[in-house]
Amino acid sequence: MPKFRAPGRVNIIGEHTDYNDGFVLPFAIDKYVEVEINRSSQYVFTSEKMKEQVRLQKYERLGKWTDYLMGVIWALEKLGYKTEPVEVNVSSNLPIGAGLSSSAALEIALAYGLNEVFNLKLDKMKLVEVGVKAEREFVGVRCGVMDQFTAVFGKKDHAIFLDTSTLNYEYVPLELKDFELALVDSNTKHELSSSEYNKRREECEAVLNKLGKGSFRQVTYEDLPKLDDVLRRRARHVLDENKRVSLAVRALKRSEFALLGSLLFESHVSLRDLYEVSCDETDFIVGFLKGELGILGARMVGGGFGGSILVLARKGYLGGVFERLEESYLRNFKKRPSLIRIQSNDGVHMVM
Ligand code: GLA
Repeated sequence: MPKFRAPGRVNIIGEHTDYNDGFVLPFAIDKYVEVEINRSSQYVFTSEKMKEQVRLQKYERLGKWTDYLMGVIWALEKLGYKTEPVEVNVSSNLPIGAGLSSSAALEIALAYGLNEVFNLKLDKMKLVEVGVKAEREFVGVRCGVMDQFTAVFGKKDHAIFLDTSTLNYEYVPLELKDFELALVDSNTKHELSSSEYNKRREECEAVLNKLGKGSFRQVTYEDLPKLDDVLRRRARHVLDENKRVSLAVRALKRSEFALLGSLLFESHVSLRDLYEVSCDETDFIVGFLKGELGILGARMVGGGFGGSILVLARKGYLGGVFERLEESYLRNFKKRPSLIRIQSNDGVHMVM
């Protein structure tokens, strides 16, 4: 039986910019979701990780992991692609709730698989659209395009410099030389993540309404004084973060890793103070890492309110630093973080 595998993603920089017509710099990772698809007379979804088998009606929404799958079937049909009932077995080595986009990986693995099984002839851009539509309109999180785009277009040894307003993109070689990128999972996921996520989107829409502009790309620093305190901070984050993405691309191309690291730290401060999507646990980890020898930069990744910290470190340093961090985190939060080693990876594909 063929299986279809889609990767999670890590975003180097450009957080909460993808639904604001901004820039992002993600890469696909070697942690992924796999689906096996069999034609059937009914919908039966099984997840190893969830230890659950669920039978459901077409378009049935249950408020749990099955929604990502049914959402894809729904989105395909809405876009004019007919499928028939299937049994889907899901397996994964991608941590859930770690901010690594397990939901987009699940959506894209299924969309890609159904495309193959039913010979639907969707191109790559269409696959992205299906995943995003499923998440926004069926699951109800009004996400940007970054996660699904990366799950489809990921390329080993490269990051993707993506302009989310045009979907133009450039592969940037991820050559880290004496350095490495790794993740520290805070093993925390605060309940408010999806409601606050949608709220941030509304605030950004309010910025545009207030300024009478159609896109965040038309917003400038001169506009900031016209906004009230909260909206001004949100807008400021987006403008600064877009600049940081461009600087990070240049730093990566020139192997200026110290600069890249300081951009990561700056991004975290902005997400914490201006965009207000971090939390005590992730702030603690970044704060701890900041003072450590061999650590160049760190920041929360993904939507926020928990999840993982991306760390840029000189090779050979992270193991020792993590041990000390683990102790200190345990003392403060009564739980342990996890160190996740990552490599870049290709986008969705079939595996035998
Ligand atoms: C989540 C969303 C993405 C993006 C990030 C924040 O991962 O799915 O589209 O908005 O949050 O950058």
